[in-house]
Amino acid sequence: MPLERRDPPPGRLALFPGSFDPLTNGHVDIVLRSAHLFERVLIAVLVNPDKKPLFTPEERVEIIRKVFREYPNVEVDTFAGLLVDYARQKRASAIVRGLRAVSDFEYEFQMALMNRHLEPTLETVFMMPAEQYTYLSSRLIKEVFSLGGEVRGLVPPIVEEQMRKKQRAGQGAGAQGAGAQ
Ligand code: PNS
Repeated sequence: MPLERRDPPPGRLALFPGSFDPLTNGHVDIVLRSAHLFERVLIAVLVNPDKKPLFTPEERVEIIRKVFREYPNVEVDTFAGLLVDYARQKRASAIVRGLRAVSDFEYEFQMALMNRHLEPTLETVFMMPAEQYTYLSSRLIKEVFSLGGEVRGLVPPIVEEQMRKKQRAGQGAGAQGAGAQ
């Protein structure tokens, strides 16, 4: 079935959606790779009222903006509801997702095909992070940190700093609000 293509927006925009609670160096790797391929990359932080996150969506946006402040083609925003609706609203050309291991594949494959069912003109592009980040996940970072483990080199320094701040404030990085990535 031929796809009905809308006029491509000026400057291709890639959406990189996720929970980013917190942003890891694996996420950073994927954003930087995407920023080479697309004119603009929009990191879209999911606002999920069902989860009890470590960082509020606003805190995550603020942290991520700081991390990418030297990259003018990387933007950060929050979204709620269906990703395809948000992608249409932003006139995005593609959704970018990171694939770390075979274990990611089934979930990502289902999501990509469901999103394609909902919006056939929106492509999902998968990218592999550098090997040293293939075992990283936000959930593991929170677990390791909450148990006193070292996360330096696994998350950007600003993220580590903010995690320490939360810990000092008694809102430690428990694993209960862990996101899939
Ligand atoms: O970092 P995560 O938690 O793996 O990201 C998952 C995310 C945000 C990409 C996914 O949960 C999502 O797109 N949620 C928005 C709601 C939606 O569109 N659901 C249908 C997806 S097929």
